[in-house]
This record gives sequence, C-alpha cells and structure tokens, in this order.
Amino acid sequence: MAIDDLFRPFTVRSLTVPNRFAMAPMTRQASPGGVPGADVAEYYRRRAAGGVGLIITEGIRLPDAAAGYPASIPTIAGDEVLAGWRRVVGSVHREGGMIAAQLWHQGVQRDDADGVVPVGPSGVDGRGRPRGRALEVRELHRLADQYAESAATAREVGFDAVELHGAHGYLLDEFFWDRTNLRTDEYGGSLTARTRFPAEVVAAVRAAVGPDYPIIFRFSQWKGTDYTASVAADPTELQELLAPLVDAGIDVLHPSTRRHYAPAFPDHDGELSLAGWTKKVTGVPVIAVGSVGLETQFRSEKQGQVIQPAPVDRLVEQFDADEFDIVAIGRALLADPAWVNRLRDGRLDGFAGYDPEAALAKLA
Ligand SMILES: Cc1cc2nc3c(=O)[nH]c(=O)nc-3n(C[C@H](O)[C@H](O)[C@H](O)COP(=O)(O)O)c2cc1C
Repeated sequence: MAIDDLFRPFTVRSLTVPNRFAMAPMTRQASPGGVPGADVAEYYRRRAAGGVGLIITEGIRLPDAAAGYPASIPTIAGDEVLAGWRRVVGSVHREGGMIAAQLWHQGVQRDDADGVVPVGPSGVDGRGRPRGRALEVRELHRLADQYAESAATAREVGFDAVELHGAHGYLLDEFFWDRTNLRTDEYGGSLTARTRFPAEVVAAVRAAVGPDYPIIFRFSQWKGTDYTASVAADPTELQELLAPLVDAGIDVLHPSTRRHYAPAFPDHDGELSLAGWTKKVTGVPVIAVGSVGLETQFRSEKQGQVIQPAPVDRLVEQFDADEFDIVAIGRALLADPAWVNRLRDGRLDGFAGYDPEAALAKLA
C-alpha cells in the first residue's frame, strides 16, 4: 500500500473528508475576548489550502465562565463570536476543506487567576490534591445542556462536525480517571459509572444535532499532569470505557497519543497502537495522532531545540493494517501549513522540522 491511499476520501454520516489528514486541535490563545478574528480564519485557511482534509479547531470554551481561561481562547456564543466562526468556516470550505469544532471544558485544570473557582467531579487535581470544587448533579445536567447547545450552534454556523474534548485530564477525562473522580454517587465508582457523565453529554449532543451530524470524541490515557497515567489498563477496560460513548451516539473516536506508533497494551498484542485497539474493541472509525512526521513527541523538546523530521513509513503500515481511518497532524502543521501537500507531492525532504518558538510566536 502506498501513501496515495491516504489521499482517498472518507465518509462518516453527513461528512465526507477529501483525504485522511486532519489538523489536530491546537490552542493558540489568539482570539481576544473569545472572538476568532480574520487572522484566525486565515490561519486555518492556509492549512486547508495546504492539503488538510479536516481541520479540528483549537479547543473552544463552553460559554460557562468556569469552562476555560484565558479569555483569548475562543468561545461559541454571542453575535461577534459566531460571525468570527462563520468567517473561519467559510475560509476553510472555499479551499475544499472540512472543519470540526472542538468543544472544551477545562475542569479543575482551569487557571483561577481571574478568581473563578475551577470545577470538576471531585475538586481534586491530577496529583490528588484539593483544587476547586465538586460539581453538583444539577450542575452536571446544566453542563450537558450547554455542550448540546454549543454543538447545535456549531452546526448552525456551518461546522461539519463537532469533537468533544474528553482527553488530557480536562473535565470529561476527570470523570473517567479514578484519580480525579472520587464521587460516591452514580457518577463515580466503577469505570462504567465514571463514564456516565461523558456519555450523558454525548447523548445530549446527539439529541441536539440530529442523527446525521458527525460527533467525534477525543480521549487519552495520558494527562497533562502525568504522561504515564492510564484510564484503561487493558483492552477489556478500553471496551468498558468506550462502549457507553458509542452507544450514546459517538461516530468517530480520537484516541490522543503522543506517539502514533506506540504499542498500547504490550502484554496483549505487542505492536497494536491505541488507535488500532480502539477500532478493534468498538468497530467505529478512528483518528490516530502523535508525532507524525516528527522525531520526538509532544512536549519532549528542550528549550531552543528543533524537532527533526521523521519518515512516515510506519504510519503507512498502520493504515495498511487498518489501525485508523484518519490521522491528525499537530506540530508539523504549525511548522508548515503545506505539510500534507508536501507529503502528497513527495517533497517531505524540504520540511525543516518543528521549531516551537518560531511556530508559536505568531499565528502564521
Ligand atoms: C500548541 C499546542 C496546543 C494544543 N492544544 C490542544 C487543544 O486545544 N486540544 C487538544 O485536544 N489537544 C491540544 N494539543 C495536542 C495536539 O492536538 C496533539 O495531540 C499533539 O500535539 C500531538 O500531535 P503532534 O505530535 O502531531 O504534534 C495541543 C498541542 C500543541 C502543540
């Protein structure tokens, strides 16, 4: 199988992605007051023009004040904000790209510099220390409604799909993880009980967007506070974690890993990635991610270090083995908006790698 196969379209519900490449969601804090401006539209337009089939936006704060900080992270309510998103969506569509909105609540990881108290399942952070406060059940219902309203809004402004951010130790992931979910009510305890709130969010979103609109769910073993953490210890637990989400209406799963080729459960099948296991235990389409085109993983670089390019042979092998349907590219696309077209045209040797300082200095 050749790289060309990654340039075939992929359809899920009402969405047809022109190829198998997504832009991974990446926070840029470049939307003053939560409003994505013309520069944000141009930033995403460039990636669509550079060959990305599906843009997944940076995390978008739910309108709730406790959902996210700082204010320069975009939100999804208010006329000015929605006009901003219409411009983003239009720019991407005109280049032939599709675009999904990533909905985000930061849970207890939210910075409290502005005095807003962070909230989560138990008011405990990823190191087991008290932080913020626990959400009451009626607040959970209200939050599920807010996810649903935000997803409906995303659909109205023209996004082709929504992605729920349930990874990296943020709110939905805090429910999954036994270190941050110490609840003794129906939302805590067994893995299935810990999946209950995220599944309720999925069901609310499904009811709000209708049957044809694609819903993607991003989850991860690793947390911002602990790269070695895990929610599912083995494939059986992975199935236990994901089945309720799929039953509630998820169409695509997006297991976030820092290295796409890393074996997920070495004791069970030496080589299979988390993307591969996710497909195997659920049967739903999967987005793989992590260090594609780069030598080392997210947040491993030393100050001043440029991450060198890496070949994509292993990625093509994994696609050949049906371990994933779409692959998300993060840092390589910050460094070079045309990385996908480079790959398509056999020009990857001109890719200079990822220099974080240069890539993050401005929205280019
Ligand atoms: C600057 C930056 C911001 C990120 N922000 C988000 C985010 O808002 N939501 C999210 O789910 N992941 C976020 N991530 C993680 C990426 O989506 C991706 O999983 C990670 O960079 C690994 O992919 P890569 O090795 O191709 O860069 C971010 C990563 C970077 C580098």
